[in-house]
Amino acid sequence: MQNNQQMKREAPNILITGTPGVGKSTLCQQLSEVTGLRWLEISKIAKDNNCLEEYDEVYQCPVLDEDKLLDGLEKVMCQGGNIVDYHGCEFFPERWFDVIFVLRTDNTTLYDRLVSRGYSGKKLEDNIDCEIFQTILEEAKASYKENIVHELNSRTPEELQANINRICLWLQEWFHDNQNI
Ligand SMILES: Nc1ncnc2c1ncn2[C@@H]1O[C@H](COP(=O)(O)OP(=O)(O)OP(=O)(O)O)[C@@H](O)[C@H]1O
Ligand SMILES: [Mg+2]
Repeated sequence: MQNNQQMKREAPNILITGTPGVGKSTLCQQLSEVTGLRWLEISKIAKDNNCLEEYDEVYQCPVLDEDKLLDGLEKVMCQGGNIVDYHGCEFFPERWFDVIFVLRTDNTTLYDRLVSRGYSGKKLEDNIDCEIFQTILEEAKASYKENIVHELNSRTPEELQANINRICLWLQEWFHDNQNI
């Protein structure tokens, strides 16, 4: 079932993940414009579809109703052609994705970005720790086949452009390899 569903996709599903502030949405928006693939910004979709539960005071963010979110996305994910943008990855079904890109920054860059966004205290520290301990990269490697998980530096506009080029090349190869499906 899993393989059949993947083979029927007319276009691949790409997951862009990483610590908050690494540049996922910046990349996804541009990638979506260049490729025509559908950008699914999970935080926004969760909010718009009432998939957020009570507010977690310790982590200063709302708790996600994962089951409700996943049920709502199943159909569009089976169609393919999606760029999924989220700061976590372990709760998505493994069969959804053809490739995973984990964006990375250095601590100083991330610190400056999060401070200019107004983050402070525990929320700021937790996110910096998340990047230092490469939590999302480890989560991706533990949740998906390692050969589809790729790490990309996302510190400068030049790296942003290089990442878009790299993903476009990957996409071309996917279409070449899957042209007879
Ligand atoms: N490659 C880059 N070079 C320089 N600045 C960048 C780069 N990528 C993103 N930024 C800047 O960093 C900030 C955070 O980017 P963005 O909102 O895309 O992060 P995010 O990973 O989507 O965060 P979140 O998980 O909270 O949604 C923005 O101000 C954006 O302009
Ligand atoms: Mg974002």
